[in-house]
Amino acid sequence: MEAIALRMPEASSALPPGPRTPRLWQRLSYALRPYGTVASSRRFGDRFTVSGLNGPQPLVVFTDPAGIRDIFTDEGDTLRFGEAAGPILGPILGWHSLLLLDGARHFRERRLMGPPFHGERMHVYGRLMREITARVVDRWPVGTPFPIHREMQAITMDVMLRAVFGVDQEAVFRPMREKVERFVAQANGPSAPFIAMRTFQVDLGRFSPWGRFVRNRAVVRDALLAEIRERRAAGTADRTDILSLLVEARDEHGQPMSEEELVDEMFTLVMAGHETTATALAWAFWHLTGHPEVVSRLREEIARVTGGRPLEPQQVTQLEYLDATIKETMRLTPIVTMVVRRVHAPVRIGGVDMPAGAEVGANVYLAHHRPDVWPDPERFDPDRFVGTRPSPYTFFPFGGGVRRCIGAAFATYELKIVLAEVLSRVDLRLAPGYRMRPRLRAVTIAPSRGMPVVVVERRRQAA
Ligand code: HEM
Repeated sequence: MEAIALRMPEASSALPPGPRTPRLWQRLSYALRPYGTVASSRRFGDRFTVSGLNGPQPLVVFTDPAGIRDIFTDEGDTLRFGEAAGPILGPILGWHSLLLLDGARHFRERRLMGPPFHGERMHVYGRLMREITARVVDRWPVGTPFPIHREMQAITMDVMLRAVFGVDQEAVFRPMREKVERFVAQANGPSAPFIAMRTFQVDLGRFSPWGRFVRNRAVVRDALLAEIRERRAAGTADRTDILSLLVEARDEHGQPMSEEELVDEMFTLVMAGHETTATALAWAFWHLTGHPEVVSRLREEIARVTGGRPLEPQQVTQLEYLDATIKETMRLTPIVTMVVRRVHAPVRIGGVDMPAGAEVGANVYLAHHRPDVWPDPERFDPDRFVGTRPSPYTFFPFGGGVRRCIGAAFATYELKIVLAEVLSRVDLRLAPGYRMRPRLRAVTIAPSRGMPVVVVERRRQAA
């Protein structure tokens, strides 16, 4: 792998050209037509410069494997995300959130938080994911349209909260769920754009968007703190939920995470882990409703692997075509269009000399739509992923390098189990007259109007 060479900064005029339209117009255009706006910037070539995440500093966008490799092979000290996103996300997630840390602190927190999201642990969550999906699918009406995105949110929220707090903790779970749902509904609701803008992060009482947000957040925070103290006092013997694992985690000096760290990471996991997966699922259904031949192949594969019985967590790895379908969904319609880093010290990225204070972006959408890498890039074709391993510099729906999504394995596993369960239980069609438009939500891009669908037929009774 090529090392990144440090060099003296050069004038920003040496940065690649980009759109000259005012910053506000660029933002507005992205808010109204997210994919369309990103796609249209392809006319500037492989790299182009736009205005930064939260200010006028230049952000150089890379869409080619060489530039993206340089961004993802940085060790996290020269190229920082926490520094860039802190001012916006700090008041929302808390300043100890993994998303806001850089360098050594980020490294320590990743090591503490990693174990619950890897390997065999997935099997613990697998049955839970299947049962929750079955319960939600069983209440869908036949013949009446309903928004499938909302239903996917119900599933992923339930999964996330039960994985975090423990499957059997009904007394803790119900009141916590109510509080978290109120918080998340407001954070993702119509006032979301105001919450994510620093200018509007002012508490003008409980009827103002930010005022309501901080009050909802305080309610969740108090409940989380009480739960953390309870677990510290009572012990977490034999418990496999994420909160218990984090309460017990120790760094290389034998130090546990502080209460504040634990609270902020719980917020981070719930916020980063539920809406993202629900949106990816909504996109999967968008593609599948337009490709019955893919649905037939998926059903054949699932039936062959399970023998017609409920999917067992350890069978998930055998579902190769399902894996390819999920990858193709995330290639064509990634829920996040770009990952960004702030340049902390002058550095050369993909041959471009970047000054400190500027930002670099690895554009997920444009990299995933390059015709030289993905022939006929606008076509939905899961076969392009069968029997191949895509390069992390041309396919990166979960970002990359030291900051790659910590929940990627968890999310992929959940996507597979939920899709397999839904496809085994119902036949879905798009609601008549629905015209899909990609819509920007707080951060993610989702099909418009929650994507209404109709259950045409139930395939088998609940197990
Ligand atoms: C389909 C679902 C998901 C997608 C597409 C997704 C995507 C992403 C992306 C693009 C990033 C930024 C990576 C970068 O900057 O290079 C990220 C970071 C992160 N994601 Fe996810 N994510 C998903 C699900 C989840 C889940 C289920 C969890 C938790 C269980 C989660 C937790 C996080 C966290 C904590 C980070 C910050 C990592 C860091 O800064 O070190 N995500 N995710």
